[in-house]
Amino acid sequence: MGDPGVIVLAAGEGTRMKSRIPKVLHKLAGRPMVRYILEAAETLKPSVVAIVVGREAGLVRAELGDSAMLVEQSERLGTADAVRVARPVLEGACEDVMVLYADTPLLRASTIQELLGIHRQSGALITLLTTVMPEPRGYGRIKRDSLGRMCGIIEQVEIAGAEEEIHEINVGAYCFRSGWLWPHLSRVRLSEKGEYYLTDLVAMAVAEYEAAGGSRAYPLQTLCAEDAVETMGINDRRQLAKAGLEMQRRINESLMLQGVTIIDPASTYINAGVQIGRDTIIYPNTTVEGKTVIGEECGIGPNSHLIDCIIGDRCRVWSSAVEGSRLSPGATVGPFSHLRAGSAIGEDAHIGNFAEVKSSSLGAGTRMGHFSYVGDAEVGCDVNIGAGTVTCNYDGNAKHQTVIGDGAFIGSDTMLVAPVKVGSQGKTGAGSVVTHDVADGAVVYGVPARAKKSERKERAQLRLEEE
Ligand code: UD1
Ligand code: CA
Repeated sequence: MGDPGVIVLAAGEGTRMKSRIPKVLHKLAGRPMVRYILEAAETLKPSVVAIVVGREAGLVRAELGDSAMLVEQSERLGTADAVRVARPVLEGACEDVMVLYADTPLLRASTIQELLGIHRQSGALITLLTTVMPEPRGYGRIKRDSLGRMCGIIEQVEIAGAEEEIHEINVGAYCFRSGWLWPHLSRVRLSEKGEYYLTDLVAMAVAEYEAAGGSRAYPLQTLCAEDAVETMGINDRRQLAKAGLEMQRRINESLMLQGVTIIDPASTYINAGVQIGRDTIIYPNTTVEGKTVIGEECGIGPNSHLIDCIIGDRCRVWSSAVEGSRLSPGATVGPFSHLRAGSAIGEDAHIGNFAEVKSSSLGAGTRMGHFSYVGDAEVGCDVNIGAGTVTCNYDGNAKHQTVIGDGAFIGSDTMLVAPVKVGSQGKTGAGSVVTHDVADGAVVYGVPARAKKSERKERAQLRLEEE
């Protein structure tokens, strides 16, 4: 049996989201909704995956890249119409067609695999996923006959009286026999709401079966998912939040099973795709976003926010914000510091409290303990940056660089007026305003900072001798 074709429906207006961006691009645990169902679909090893998108196709393409097979549904005429739009891409390419909705991101790969398995084994025309929902409002309800066989789906807008009591719902994941699907799709009639419902195909299959006098095998099969949470559809932001928390719960659980300690999973927000090493402890109130990778035996949090960072083993980030930065093994940050994009902190270096670092590298063993700003700087190893040091990197027009050599000692409250260089083992006195380069091993102090008179003479003498 050939590989299945998959159609992901993602063109709905998402009116209930009250948003400018397409519903399927709203994020759960940092990843756009549509990516989750695509990831699950990939596990079916499909021959083709077509994603049906609406007028904002460009936005979805920007997110998914050119590799995704997007087909545009110009008018939102309902789920049956959306599947019809994908027909040219799939027809003839597969025997089975799976239709999934992009707004059910919690659906597990194992569930849709099981659905496909049942479909292939039974030979049904349609195999459909259902579940029993405690609060089924808003979903299409499964109608069953006296033999317990599914015989129809009633959409919420069509529900009358006692049908409201049906708790078994249509999840929105189907397998179709393609030879049957394509010709029948065009026979779906417009609903009163002005949409073509994919779910009407169920009644159509039953009508054909009855017309044949029951001489054929029953055309429908169902799989009832045990976990109703997994089947949740996202139509508004309340559901988005609920599903987001569920996704977070899964991510945290999988990290814990891999050896990460999470003190309080309920206050820990880690994006999908973040990697964390063994024996790292994540303290409460911590958010880890983007493409962050954290090593082993680190302590992150409490109250920390990491975005797109590479954190080496044994690092400590305490009550701090770290973005687009790299920490080498053993580096420590915080509490209350901010590392902005392009910061690289060397091995065992220490950034203490109320510090800001931007587009700078600090070498191994360098210490910057208290309320300092280092921007556009290249700082060597084992440098001591005294309290209140500022790299004055901006002159009102342009940014300038500060270079500090290995082993330098920057006194408290030093202003380094860039561009400026402090040589290795150089020293600045407390309160210096450094406007000129400091030679290797030299000591400067004052405003503007100068070397001691005797040292100045000595250096001048040396220069004379060299000439
Ligand atoms: C749909 C089902 C309902 C089911 C529920 C499960 C139909 C008619 N109803 O209802 O039985 O219980 O999902 O969550 O299918 N879409 C398009 N083009 C369109 C319309 C929709 O691509 O013209 C896409 C949407 O982006 C969405 C999916 O199809 O991903 C479902 O559409 P939506 O409007 O959310 O349907 P529901 O009312 O939730
Ligand atoms: Ca929906």
